Amino acid sequence: MRMSVIGCGYLGAVHAASMAELGHEVVGIDVDPGKIRALQAAQAPFFEPGLTDILESAMASGRLSFSTDIAAAGGSQVHFIAVGTPQKKGESAYDLSYVDAALDALTPHLADGNLVVGKSTVPVGTAARLAEKMERSGSGASLAWNPEFLREGFAVKDTISPDRLVYGVPAGEKGVQARQLLDEVYAVALSNDTPVVVTDYATAELVKVAANAFLATKISFINAMAEIAEVSGGDVTALADAIGYDARIGRRFLNAGIGFGGGCLPKDIRGFAARAEELGRGESVRFLLEVDAVNMRRRERMVQMVIQALGGQVYRKKVAVLGLAFKPDSDDVRDSPALDVAVRLNGLGAHVIATDPEAIPNSIRLHPQLGFATDTHDALHNADAVVLVTEWKEYRELDPIATGQLVREKILLDGRNVLDPAAWRAAGWTYHGMGRP
Ligand code: UGA
Repeated sequence: MRMSVIGCGYLGAVHAASMAELGHEVVGIDVDPGKIRALQAAQAPFFEPGLTDILESAMASGRLSFSTDIAAAGGSQVHFIAVGTPQKKGESAYDLSYVDAALDALTPHLADGNLVVGKSTVPVGTAARLAEKMERSGSGASLAWNPEFLREGFAVKDTISPDRLVYGVPAGEKGVQARQLLDEVYAVALSNDTPVVVTDYATAELVKVAANAFLATKISFINAMAEIAEVSGGDVTALADAIGYDARIGRRFLNAGIGFGGGCLPKDIRGFAARAEELGRGESVRFLLEVDAVNMRRRERMVQMVIQALGGQVYRKKVAVLGLAFKPDSDDVRDSPALDVAVRLNGLGAHVIATDPEAIPNSIRLHPQLGFATDTHDALHNADAVVLVTEWKEYRELDPIATGQLVREKILLDGRNVLDPAAWRAAGWTYHGMGRP
């Protein structure tokens, strides 16, 4: 199948490469010439495990190309819209300007029978509005909404073998045709029995934000329990293990710590709450504001813990910050709690030396005032306190004895509760987890 993918960020670049890997003929289009140049050279413009491999193999097969010219979408049967929908500056709502601009630019290149497939996360009601706009343009193309559930760090795997597919399609014959085309797009996943939910636009849009809202709520729930454990002497990790054995609850996404960040969860709970207000049902998801508030408190809590561990002030103390990305196996620092903790400590006058296997370049761009070290040992050298805020494998596997020989003070704050307190204490460290005694 010939298809175009408009927007080559975290979502679109992975989608384009994965579709080509699955045998389709794909053109990826983006307005950013730097991104397109990198992709044309089979280089991933961001860190994502496995992406370079499939870019290389798909480019070599001749099935994948990239362009800055939207006209390159002409001749494709299916057109994915995978542009960003960031939070509006100074507001909670989504900024849909890139989605509208992508559709407007694409419209002159659409032919009768083409299918435009929205993958970007949008507030409910957007697809219906865009479908009307398409109808008015008279291109003869129709619209489906097909949300994406990939996780950064597992993006290639999640795209090639998704755990479910959701098609939001119009009613009637157009919907039948849209479904047929989407079944062709995802033929490989369907042959592996991937479940498909075929529904209307509104449900498809809501599925996406509901899933992210649920995940965010789960994380903030356990972080709220951490707050209670902190004032009552409990251990939130043991609590999570114990409630997680209940299959109705499950242990995944119950890791307490400095909370969630990234380009999706924070923005989606805010955008969802804002959209619910517009629809006159603000109260239905008002708890998401509380979910957000619990989450933001955890970053400040980490900072307070560092201050306390250092005897009341961090001014001129050397603090090694391990991790900057919002999660391991990613270089993404959008709304990263780890980077935020580093910035807050730096703002209090600490000599922050932050490190991360992949996210230093993106962090420098946003916060050049921080101290950075590419080598973990350099970051740890003579540190008065060590703060682990992104659980990269290499930090989880640090040896307490060897690490103890690098620092000035053996004070450790584990913002992700991933180290073994007993082993670190046995090596002479003062260990502080979050929500743990
Ligand atoms: C999230 C969803 O998990 C995906 O399903 C969704 O497709 C994606 O957003 C999206 O909307 O595009 P992602 O942002 O890549 O994926 O990252 P997650 O794995 O969900 O982690 C989000 C944040 O929660 C990270 O900062 C992570 O450290 C934090 N987290 C996660 C916790 O603090 N505790 C946990 O137990 C789990």
